[in-house]
Order: sequence, then structure tokens, then C-alpha cells
Amino acid sequence: MHRRDLLYRLDLQNFTRELLSLYDELIPTEEEEVRRRKFFSKLESLFERELPGTRLFLFGSCVNAFGVCNSDIDVCLSVDEEEPNKIELVVQMATILESDAMLNVQALTHARVPIVKFTEPATGISCDICVNNTLAVVNSKLLHDYAQIDVRLRQLAFMVKHWAKRRQVNDTYRGTLSSYAYVLMCIHFLQQRRPPILPCLQEMRPTYEVKVGSIRCAYYDQVETLRDFGADNKETLGELLTAFFDYWACQHDYNHSVISVRTGGYLSKNEKEWTRRIGNERHLICIEDPFEVTHDLGRVVDKHSIKALRAEFSRAANVIAFDFNPWATLFEPY
Ligand code: GTP
Ligand code: MG
Repeated sequence: MHRRDLLYRLDLQNFTRELLSLYDELIPTEEEEVRRRKFFSKLESLFERELPGTRLFLFGSCVNAFGVCNSDIDVCLSVDEEEPNKIELVVQMATILESDAMLNVQALTHARVPIVKFTEPATGISCDICVNNTLAVVNSKLLHDYAQIDVRLRQLAFMVKHWAKRRQVNDTYRGTLSSYAYVLMCIHFLQQRRPPILPCLQEMRPTYEVKVGSIRCAYYDQVETLRDFGADNKETLGELLTAFFDYWACQHDYNHSVISVRTGGYLSKNEKEWTRRIGNERHLICIEDPFEVTHDLGRVVDKHSIKALRAEFSRAANVIAFDFNPWATLFEPY
């Protein structure tokens, strides 16, 4: 082996070690998990009393395995009605929470998904509650199930989410991508490695099936049988993060390609009819939702934020390739 290759390999080992120690720091502690569980039971009791006949479900990063420490909690209120008045319910929940002495209660009634936001004073936990968002509960389960197959998914997604938050490219209100979109990018990326690190669960014999409105959500969820799936691929976290940023900086075909976790591959923008701007949806980076297939998670990206996003992918790839201490520079706040 050349000296240069040896040095490169040593650097990568070191890079991986540093990333893994950051990963350990980001994992929520057992104490935090206990605090969250208590918070949720308290909320359930409050709602049983004040809104009988409804149910609460957790979704998002507090149950999908991609929650870092101090994440907020996403809750879905489920009501037994086909078309409930979500705005009214959000306002009603805000009143209930205010009279229970919750802090910073805000009813966001005009958001695409109306929510009430608040903070619990005792624990400082922030929480969002939406109404009948069953698809989010189901896609949280899909992400959770993928995370059980190979630990490198959780490690990679933690690094990518941490990077995105530090570099301020994790805000759909400002035209960059949601955490959910980044996790889908990581799943898709690991489906593409050769040998693959993740399978495509929606292409396998379904063992789980629910219908949400007209959308059939079905996939193989007996993931405990897939624990060795990625064993032939020996890539380390350092190698994977390097390749991930290299892919989004230099290789992805932004003009024609759609990444699709559902099919485990790529689709064309043409076949999705995502070639034209309709309203505010520009499709400048295309990430297909695994269940709501008409939904592009990149739709929030506009002509300014796509530049910022791609510049950040390039910066990350360059830092890893050329910086002496990439693990420090990579996550430097923007
Ligand atoms: P952090 O809060 O940043 O830790 O991540 P998170 O996993 O909670 O992600 P985020 O707050 O972006 O979204 C919360 C959940 O809402 C996700 O896990 C999804 O289940 C769901 N979600 C978010 N955006 C969309 C979307 O555009 N479409 C659908 N169908 N679901 C979404
Ligand atoms: Mg969240």
C-alpha cells in the first residue's frame, strides 16, 4: 500500500472515531427518555379529561429512532371523524393547555398542517400537537423500522441532521429541508451502496398494512430478520459520510432525478411530472415521500435556497477532503 493511501486510511479511521464519539454524545440519555414518557402520560391524562373520545399518538423523532437529545416532541391528536375541523380543534387544545399552565402556547392555525405549540414548564420540553396526521405516525414507524436493520443508518442520519442544524439548512420555513427529508436521503443512500446496507422494505412481501384515506401503506416490517442484511458491506461511518456529501455535492442529477425510498432507486422527474413549477412548488431537489407519492419533500426549496443548500453540500465535501481536522470544521456553526 502507498504511504499516501495509508495516511488516508488512518485519517478516515480517526474521522470515524471522532464522529462516533459525537454520535454517543447526541444520543438521548435514559433520564431524558423517562422524562419524556412522564410528560406524555401527563398529557394523555389531561386530554382524557378535557377531550374524551380522542387519542394521542407520538410521531417524529421521539419515536422514529432519529431523535437527538433535547429534541421536541411531536404528538398527533386522533379524532374519530372523517373531516374534523382541525383549526377549531387546535384553538380548543390551546385553551386547554393554557389553563393547565403550559408556557408559550401558540395555535398555528394557518400552517399547512395546523398545530398547537407549547412548552412544559417543569421539564422545559417543547411539544407540537397536530390533528389526525395518521400518515406521519405511519412514516415514523417506517423510519424506525429501517433504523433497526443497520446501526450505520442511525449514525449517519445523526451526523447529517446535526450538520444541517449547525449549518442552518434544516428549516422548511426558510426553504431548506426537514429532518424527515434528510433521514429519507440517508435511507436512500444506504440502499444504493454496493453491496447495499439497507433493503427496500416497500418492495418486499408486506407484513404490515394500513390504509390512510385512499393511501395504502404496506411494507415488510419484520426487520429483526434483516439484522445481517448489510453485513457484506464493511464501510465505516467516516467513509459513508464522506460519500454522502460527495454524492449530493457532485454526483446527484438535480435536473432529472428523483430519489425514491419506496422503490429503492431513482425515478425521473418526467415520469413524476415534476418538471414544471406549479404554484410555489419548483422541484429543484426531488425527494419522493414513501407513501404520499405525489408529495415531493424538496418542494419547499426555492431558487435561492437551492444555491445555499448545494453550497453547503460542496463545503462539507471539501472540508472532508481537504481540511486537517474535518470533524471540527464540518459542524462549525454557520
Ligand atoms: P427533529 O424534530 O428535527 O428532531 O426531527 P423529526 O424527525 O421530528 O422531523 P420533523 O420535525 O421534520 O417532522 C416530524 C415528523 O412529521 C416526521 O418524522 C414525519 O413523520 C412527519 N413529516 C414531516 N414533514 C413531512 C412531510 O412533508 N410529509 C409527511 N407526510 N410527513 C412529514
Ligand atoms: Mg420533531
